[in-house]
Amino acid sequence: MIQFNSLQNQIVSMLKLGSEEFMQKVLNNRRWTLPSPETKIHQIVHTRGPNFLLNTHPPFGDVNRVSKERDYFYVVRDDLLHPLVNGNKARKLDGLLPLLQHYSVSDVVTCGGCQSAHTAAIAVLCAERGIVSHLLLRGEQPEILTGYNLMSTMYGNVIYVPRTIYANREEMLKSYAKSVAGNDGSVLWFGDIIEASSATELSTSPNFMQMDVSRSEGNHHRNILVINEGAGDSVALLGVIRLVQYLSQNHLLGKERPMKFVVDAGTGTTAVGLGLAAHCLGLPWEVYAVILADKIEGYRKQEAHLISEFKKHFNIEFIDQNVNREDAGIVNWVERGRPRKFGNVLEGEVETCQQIAQQTGILVDPVYTLAAWETAMLLSSSDAEEGPEVVLLHTGGTLGMFGLAQRETEECRR
Ligand SMILES: Cc1ncc(COP(=O)(O)O)c(C=O)c1O
Repeated sequence: MIQFNSLQNQIVSMLKLGSEEFMQKVLNNRRWTLPSPETKIHQIVHTRGPNFLLNTHPPFGDVNRVSKERDYFYVVRDDLLHPLVNGNKARKLDGLLPLLQHYSVSDVVTCGGCQSAHTAAIAVLCAERGIVSHLLLRGEQPEILTGYNLMSTMYGNVIYVPRTIYANREEMLKSYAKSVAGNDGSVLWFGDIIEASSATELSTSPNFMQMDVSRSEGNHHRNILVINEGAGDSVALLGVIRLVQYLSQNHLLGKERPMKFVVDAGTGTTAVGLGLAAHCLGLPWEVYAVILADKIEGYRKQEAHLISEFKKHFNIEFIDQNVNREDAGIVNWVERGRPRKFGNVLEGEVETCQQIAQQTGILVDPVYTLAAWETAMLLSSSDAEEGPEVVLLHTGGTLGMFGLAQRETEECRR
């Protein structure tokens, strides 16, 4: 059974700013990676069995057109945003990539596991902008490259780092970045540039064009930017807030209908972005994040940390005491139906993914998105209490399937 930590209902808070002003301050006049926040919203009708039916043109707002006894949830198809970049990475990097251009960054140094979706996303998105990426991957090079590992290799410079050295990430990133910078290059940490930048500075960047000019003039001075593992920074919340603003338009999910938003949580950044945006826009939406990589306490800490960083970086004040408190509670962190050590796949789960794929054309992976899918099913089933409609944010992760297959193959060989 899911245990809900529903603090959200207790929160009747307001921003010092109105929601319009909040959006203006945080989102307007900003440069983005995605040309538009647009995404598709589909609907899954499920019957006992379970069996699934995909509706690509759901009747928003017209509840009568969906038979009452049929259970359904909406799926926000962020898995379709980019063929190689996870939906949640595309959102998290939406507000971040333009900052690299603002600071005329020539090289990015970041790190992750061998099958890191984060390093692959950085590699692809940097390459699209002519920025060189250096990806420090934990452990040894696999015999056969596949999945995110293959994409990191195709789009960026991959360096495998022994686990003992990787254990001290900060030192590792620092010394590698210094070696790339050489004597006349400079090294910036992402935290530094965000501290230094006010929203206005970022929105009226004169450096945007300068970078291309200096490159074309053959200026080889290198500006290295170090991005922490996972890019789980408060800037990552911007893209998710932009998504919520898009979804809450009247012709889509609207601003009045109560909704339960379900998402799978790794670091929890996407979930906090959803919760914060819903809260600040005054939407009657609750966020349910299925915890996969840490304990509930860890996620609550991360939530409090991200909110406090966000307030500091974007100069946002809340009147409400709850949002300033350690346990602000804008996200309901829930356990997976069958909890396990992160990354483990239990019997029958690949078959469930197969069934979903065959009946709907939607691919979910057993590590992340299946967890959210199952929770969306539970919350929207007729056994659940009558209540708000359910929306699943599909975070992508297709290439994760290849990483899993690689793991299986390697385990078989041992
Ligand atoms: C498919 C997928 N879903 C969710 C997550 C976790 O997102 P977050 O770290 O924002 O919780 C990841 C992280 O890599 C992912 O690949």
